[in-house]
Amino acid sequence: MTGLRLEHVTKKFKEFTAVNDVSFEVKDGEFVVVLGASGSGKSTILRLIAGLEVQTSGHVYIGDMEVDDYEPRDRNIAMVFQSYALYPHLTAYNNIAFALRVRRVPRDDDPDRYRRRTREEIDERVRHAAELLGITDTLEKKPAALSGGQRQRVALARAIVRDPEAFLLDEPLSNLDAKIRSSARIELKRLHDQLKQTFVFVTHDQSEAMTLADRLVIVDHGRLLQYDTPERVLRDPASQFVASFVGSPDMVFLEGAVESRAGAASFVLGPVRIPVRGETAPGPVTLGIRPWDVSIGPENAPGGIPAVVRGVERLGSSDQLYLELTAPGAAPAPGVSVRAMGRAYENQVGDSVSVSIDPDHALFFDKDGARVHSLETAPPA
Ligand SMILES: Nc1ncnc2c1ncn2[C@@H]1O[C@H](COP(=O)(O)OP(=O)(O)OP(=O)(O)O)[C@@H](O)[C@H]1O
Ligand SMILES: [Mg+2]
Repeated sequence: MTGLRLEHVTKKFKEFTAVNDVSFEVKDGEFVVVLGASGSGKSTILRLIAGLEVQTSGHVYIGDMEVDDYEPRDRNIAMVFQSYALYPHLTAYNNIAFALRVRRVPRDDDPDRYRRRTREEIDERVRHAAELLGITDTLEKKPAALSGGQRQRVALARAIVRDPEAFLLDEPLSNLDAKIRSSARIELKRLHDQLKQTFVFVTHDQSEAMTLADRLVIVDHGRLLQYDTPERVLRDPASQFVASFVGSPDMVFLEGAVESRAGAASFVLGPVRIPVRGETAPGPVTLGIRPWDVSIGPENAPGGIPAVVRGVERLGSSDQLYLELTAPGAAPAPGVSVRAMGRAYENQVGDSVSVSIDPDHALFFDKDGARVHSLETAPPA
């Protein structure tokens, strides 16, 4: 078991920079998820750790060892691909056993000499992994006769038997249909709890990332935007991009301006003033608020922003309302979507309502999407 570390890693493909000065450390036994849109550099980051690509600059460490010059096979890291890359002509059993048969291990009596594993040793490992993953009954089948979920488990078993230093998983659940996908997530998390090994998992699915991760690496255009726990990324996003990328339903963004009066800064939107903590220069800003920190009240509620209901989606535990802000000076914000709590179920399309925002959870962003002040640095209210 080992952690790993990237130090200022950059990967260029000719002129194109796929990974741009990325540094992060994965602790021993940690489950880290790399989250980003398609083409953001996620797979390239994994391939650099595995040694399947060589970085243009920077360093990769596995444990305390710099492995920049190590071949993939010498890094002792297992990678599971989206396609699973199973051998179609081999049974599940032989797919899992394959790497054990070709790989030699040090001899007990003389660690400088190598031997092949015995049949019994291999069999024991394959059956143990199959049991862990619940695929004992399918070991004699070939990949074509397996379901997507079973194939994915065979691929995982093949990684587990090698007893690697760390597991790298590149969207291993993306070929599963929605239903088994969420149970596969729970299984994978349980597997990690049992193995207590280092996992780096790549996905573009934010809810998958939020469920699985101890910590999240959020990447965009090859750059690392934030590295933190899901809770912190949700509550204290580094930028508007991160804020809009994580959390479901989406964060609500409202355009307004910061005004300063008698030394106290407020966010102003139509008739509404929301106090802004910390130092904030006057000018246009975007307020960001999680839908669950927004409440819908009757028309003309004091402190509320006037709005009209343009759509209602009944979700059961809560409703999703699509509102149009009608405050004078409010920028048109079609589809401001708000998860409404409490009495919101009474609202109908066309109703005039007011939107109230919990000022303690409001975030502010400048025109470039940078945070205007941080929750952490703001003085206590
Ligand atoms: N071998 C290569 N040669 C040239 N460009 C490459 C190569 N591999 C990746 N790229 C480019 O680097 C960028 C990042 O690719 P990467 O596969 O890491 O993205 P990704 O985040 O895994 O995307 P996806 O979610 O679609 O799998 C892409 O623009 C891709 O076209
Ligand atoms: Mg990829």
